[in-house]
Amino acid sequence: MNAAVRAVVRTALVQKIQVYGIEQGYQGMIEGKFVELDSKSVRNIIQRGGTILRTARSQEFRTPEGREKAYENLKSREIDAVIVIGGDGSFKGAGIFSKEYDIPFVGMPGTIDNDMYGTDYTIGFDTALNTVVEAVDKIKDTAHSHNRTFFIEVMGRDAGFIALQAGIATGAEMVLIPEIDGQEARLKEVLSTNGKSSNIVIVAEGNNEGGAASLAETFGRKYQGHGVRVNVLGHMQRGGSPTAFDRYLASIMGVAAVDALIDNQRSVMIGYTNHEIVNIPFNKTIKGKRNIGAELVRINRILAT
Ligand code: F6P
Repeated sequence: MNAAVRAVVRTALVQKIQVYGIEQGYQGMIEGKFVELDSKSVRNIIQRGGTILRTARSQEFRTPEGREKAYENLKSREIDAVIVIGGDGSFKGAGIFSKEYDIPFVGMPGTIDNDMYGTDYTIGFDTALNTVVEAVDKIKDTAHSHNRTFFIEVMGRDAGFIALQAGIATGAEMVLIPEIDGQEARLKEVLSTNGKSSNIVIVAEGNNEGGAASLAETFGRKYQGHGVRVNVLGHMQRGGSPTAFDRYLASIMGVAAVDALIDNQRSVMIGYTNHEIVNIPFNKTIKGKRNIGAELVRINRILAT
């Protein structure tokens, strides 16, 4: 996200547009937490995880009173356009706000879950994916040396993109994702028939048949005995220095977001599809559901044999 902030600030300044950062998202917009950003203030942040602006989930912005306060704060600083980095919830809020008040919003997709319709990649996904791959590789050393079966739970909320792509990249024996039902039978089959002395089972946190701990209890102990271990990777997936791809993606999206505003576009999300920048209306990205792709599931199953 820092790479995105940097790109927005520098692109705007080149166009002689003054830029404010709003700390803690919509909540900061309501509370008046505005800081003017110049080129120097975004120096040396492209490699840093998190966000220098920090973030917050705002209940108040859901209310008309909260949005009115936010509007007053924008107006008093003569702010006439907003770029928001976030997911569905942020874009929903932006859509409602810019219908009530005449301030255009452009969005950039920022979530590790990669579950946004209208873009092949969201900012943060590649970094989280690489963190998971690194962790699984390390866990595999123990799995292999000690003949163990590991159930590793990864983030993704209701989506299995991190789990599935990490599964392919690490050669996991099985991946369980929320988009597919009835995976218990397959898990049982894999663990009882593949004849391997060690296994990696990656479980997406939103998986319908339970998390890593309960699956390990139900299936692991039954078919693999005591050599079963559970790892929940947790918030380490959301931090750390971004990968080259995430920095690149955030940078080109940041430039595109400012360009879109200059081009009088509003209520669009900047996406990246087939290696090109695209603009997707907020209502499309909010309503659309990104498909996980049956082909990826098939690939994982073939390669995990
Ligand atoms: O949506 C991003 C995400 O990291 C999910 O993958 C995860 O379920 C959630 O946020 C964690 O949120 P929190 O930090 O509030 O526990």
